[in-house]
Amino acid sequence: MSVLTRRTMLKASAASACAFGLGAAGNMVSTAFAVPEPRILKTVKTAANLTGNTSTQDVLTYGDAGMPPVLRMTKGKPFAARLVNGLDEPTTIHWHGVRVPNRMDGVPYMVQPYVYTGNHFDYAFTPPDAGTFWYHPHCNTLTQMGHGMTGVIVVENPRDPQFDAELVVNLRDWRLGGDGQFIQQFRPRDAARSGTYGTVRTANWHEEPQYDTPAGGLVRLRLAITDVTRIYAFQMEDAQADVIAIDGNPVPDRFRLDVLQLGPGQRLDLAVRMPDDEGTVVALKDIRGTKKKVLVSLRAVGASLKRDLRDLAALEPNPVAMPDIAAAERIPLALSATAENAPAGSICGSLGYSFWAINKVPWPGDTPDPTAPLAELKLGKSYVIDMQNLTPHAHPIHLHGMSFTVLSSSAGPVRRLVTDTYLIQPDEKVQLGFVADNPGDWLLHCHIIEHQKSGMTSYLRVA
Ligand code: C2O
Ligand code: CU
Repeated sequence: MSVLTRRTMLKASAASACAFGLGAAGNMVSTAFAVPEPRILKTVKTAANLTGNTSTQDVLTYGDAGMPPVLRMTKGKPFAARLVNGLDEPTTIHWHGVRVPNRMDGVPYMVQPYVYTGNHFDYAFTPPDAGTFWYHPHCNTLTQMGHGMTGVIVVENPRDPQFDAELVVNLRDWRLGGDGQFIQQFRPRDAARSGTYGTVRTANWHEEPQYDTPAGGLVRLRLAITDVTRIYAFQMEDAQADVIAIDGNPVPDRFRLDVLQLGPGQRLDLAVRMPDDEGTVVALKDIRGTKKKVLVSLRAVGASLKRDLRDLAALEPNPVAMPDIAAAERIPLALSATAENAPAGSICGSLGYSFWAINKVPWPGDTPDPTAPLAELKLGKSYVIDMQNLTPHAHPIHLHGMSFTVLSSSAGPVRRLVTDTYLIQPDEKVQLGFVADNPGDWLLHCHIIEHQKSGMTSYLRVA
């Protein structure tokens, strides 16, 4: 970049401010001043072949065509992207699970203006954590995400253990009719229950794709559930698979995958040991519901590498502050259904219904003047959210901007996972601890988008 314009200077200072703001180590100082070329993420309406036999119209994506690109970032290194809006409606980008400065968080009205048709917005931040994350709009999300705008982010750590192969898998459904075209994205009676399911299930925009991976090798499988509704129960058949990270963060103790339930917005990193015999196929399945469903399969190729899962070094924990539980203030949070059924104003994709509430307040929609925050937190203080689910449905509750630790649950012993999304079961009570170390207004909502958009949303203010 030879010409130094005011804009590039502002961008340079923004990028370095983020790098310092998120506590870059001393050896990062030189790179903190480097302005990375922004990655152009242009939103477009396109057509795609999702079913193998028809071209589906009105697919929305980032990039020229096909699935939104997997964005690769490096822990502790500045990243920049320019959202260019080629849609005929406003949009924004939210970097789900990445702890970014508040103004980069992508929530319209609350932290940034809408990006209207033909306009652009520059995002710049330094990801402090390594792991698997994802990105999506935060405006008219049921349509925009439902029609394709969900992409995976990989934040690399140069000190990660060596795998023989890595596979990133974007898991999601599509609501298509028999002719392969989009049908109505939701039904009110389902929105008031567990949500409206898609009809075509894909991995990386294909039904049951198969990938070749080295026989006897160790494969890192990075799975992201980017669907608007579906909760998955993962099971791996015919291969050993260890859970190494959930929601971007290494699990405290690696464990063998038996069956693991995760909801929309969540990610799972598996270390898979491929079988020794060439041609053997292993399948990752979703066994929730009545029929087992193959999501993706891996075929062993070549002579066995004879690797052992035990050879794999542990992942480095992310620099997430641990709460001081004894000193922590409690934040009660009750998820409930609301009796009120009246249509609300339709702003930024409100569904026109309110079925759900947090602490009895149904979210009115993304307006310039939303409800009061759920709580006002002091920067640097520890908090414990006491969350209880008073509904007969599971809800993946997501907090923007900060990661929390799962401390305890009425459902039984917990792994002390560090995460941004907790799938709370019916009647469960759970304690989530965190340090309020990122200033700003941070949304907290169910990631079943129909629930989010019909009341199950609130926010925390950190100042
Ligand atoms: Cu995946 Cu409000 O976010
Ligand atoms: Cu929900």
